[in-house]
Amino acid sequence: MNDNLTPFMNPAAVASYGEETPKKVPGLADLHRMTALLLAEREPGPAHMLVVGAGGGLELKFMAQARPNWRFTGVDPSPAMLDLARQTTSPFADRIALLAGTVDQAPSGPFNGATCLLTLHFLDRNERLHTLKEIHRRLKPGSVLVIAHHTSPSGDPERWLARSAAFASHSGTDRETAETAAKAMADRLPLLSPAAEEELLREANFVEPALFYAAFSFRGWVAIAGQS
Ligand SMILES: C[S@@+](CC[C@H](N)C(=O)[O-])C[C@H]1O[C@@H](n2cnc3c(N)ncnc32)[C@H](O)[C@@H]1O
Repeated sequence: MNDNLTPFMNPAAVASYGEETPKKVPGLADLHRMTALLLAEREPGPAHMLVVGAGGGLELKFMAQARPNWRFTGVDPSPAMLDLARQTTSPFADRIALLAGTVDQAPSGPFNGATCLLTLHFLDRNERLHTLKEIHRRLKPGSVLVIAHHTSPSGDPERWLARSAAFASHSGTDRETAETAAKAMADRLPLLSPAAEEELLREANFVEPALFYAAFSFRGWVAIAGQS
């Protein structure tokens, strides 16, 4: 287990996830709305969506509420985060299957679309590429993938991480504290530049990667599953 992921294994640490995360990620509610809209452009009707890193259940809850004719399979290796997702999405349990594991444990589909939100920044380049390729393998050609997570934006990446850290701090953070937090994130997380993120999507056979979300160090892309 990657050390960055240890907190997600601790039930006490994840207890406040659902409440705290929307306060820490700029525009998270709108990120969920945009994600559902981008997926729905391709699949306005009944569809089966794959949600990778589904722990906590925040995007699942939003999408299940917004799209009553979609069903979902969510995978996450953290039992504590999956339990939280189960609670968060309980009103929609008849349309949501939650499985313990990474994308490797997801059924072969084919799915009509996929998301991987706030997750890929924890994975090193090899594991990300593997994850993206395995998502691709489970998607119908032409279907949509939406991803969003921390990146290392060009032009002073640590300044952008410091802004994200300051945003995430409720009590308000002085510049020095935010810069220390940013340095710790930069040292700890295997962040990629936006150009490298797009290159990785292409390497996993996704086409037309398009940036749709930018918030301090966070970036989100929509891409189309190319033919195998
Ligand atoms: C910050 S949470 C994001 C959860 C949710 N997608 C959201 O947006 O609120 C990151 C999640 O990624 C999960 N995770 C860690 N490694 C993973 C992997 N290799 N594949 C899928 N999910 C993973 C963690 O267990 C954790 O639940």
